Amino acid sequence: MNSKHQYVELNDGHFIPRLGFGTYKPQEVPNSKTIEATKIAIEAGFRHIDCAYAYEVEEEVGLAIRSKIEDGTVKREDIFCTSKLWSTFLRPELVQSCLERSLKKLHLDYVDLYLIHFPVALKPGEELYPLDENGKIICDSVDLCATWEVMEKCKDAGLAKSIGVSNFNRRQLEMILNKPGLKYKPVCNQVECHVYHNQRKLLDFCKSKDIVLVAYGALGTQRYKECVDQNSPVLLDDPVLCALAKKRKRSPALIALRYQLQRGVVVLAQSLKENEIKENIQVFDFELTEEDMKVLDGLNRNFCYVAMQFMSDHPNYPFADEY
Ligand SMILES: NC(=O)c1ccc[n+]([C@@H]2O[C@H](COP(=O)([O-])OP(=O)(O)OC[C@H]3O[C@@H](n4cnc5c(N)ncnc54)[C@H](OP(=O)(O)O)[C@@H]3O)[C@@H](O)[C@H]2O)c1
Repeated sequence: MNSKHQYVELNDGHFIPRLGFGTYKPQEVPNSKTIEATKIAIEAGFRHIDCAYAYEVEEEVGLAIRSKIEDGTVKREDIFCTSKLWSTFLRPELVQSCLERSLKKLHLDYVDLYLIHFPVALKPGEELYPLDENGKIICDSVDLCATWEVMEKCKDAGLAKSIGVSNFNRRQLEMILNKPGLKYKPVCNQVECHVYHNQRKLLDFCKSKDIVLVAYGALGTQRYKECVDQNSPVLLDDPVLCALAKKRKRSPALIALRYQLQRGVVVLAQSLKENEIKENIQVFDFELTEEDMKVLDGLNRNFCYVAMQFMSDHPNYPFADEY
């Protein structure tokens, strides 16, 4: 294992690197940027790469991984690659086909982690976001326990080393955990998590069930125009976070990432900029004090950047519950 990296053991015995590289990018940014950034990330020491069918950059991520394997920087087994089952494939008969599409694009035989991306099912088809004639999203009705059973089969088939979920609330996690005949528990729940929304209750629940919480948006998200209110506060400009960063002689981004590691959260960091990517790996080089952690805990305001409001009518919309 890379000494720079620390790993967390998952409930199925596999290990996940505690820092991951995020690969979501806005449509207007050319896909070639993802190839370059992912290569830089691997060279800098990132070993965990988070992607998804819906990000539409799996080919680029796969190219970058292959190029870093070919030049001897890493071996396949050094890389921890995540992909996610998109909502238009939640019907049990479609699950494996989505994973196979991702594997083909990534040019991989298996992913290290496969997640149900979002608990709301959408109408099957080629459109990622199927809309009706009024521009309203067309949802579907799927029993997530049946979806999970096929996720288990994908693990048994060796297509995914580990399986988990994303954007599930406590009730939805409990539904899977209490499913009769459950073969594998989800290893993780990947959710929005940062100093403005620290997910304390969900984190405590996940810890009690040996489920790792993986944080996305830890730097305040990319503020994607399509789903983040542009008037929402800029996390990395927060005065308390910035003052602490100055005191500890680190950037606000590094403080925000380190906060998550010290509370037992696996954290993702996205960037397409070389200097930022190289900086983010330095999260292992320092520690925050207990007092610092308390100050950061004090910033919580349960503020969600990515609320996915357009799915809020669906009974499985996850963010209507307290957590
Ligand atoms: N499961 C899900 O539903 C879900 C949802 C969203 C995201 N994700 C995953 O989580 C990943 C991370 O979330 P995210 O993409 O929203 O963004 P993020 O990690 O919160 O990063 C937000 C922005 O922070 C800036 N940044 C990064 N490093 C920095 C540094 N060292 N100093 C200053 N600024 C820095 C970058 O903007 P600039 O380049 O402009 O500086 C970056 O775009 C995604 O890429 C994706 O893999 C999953």
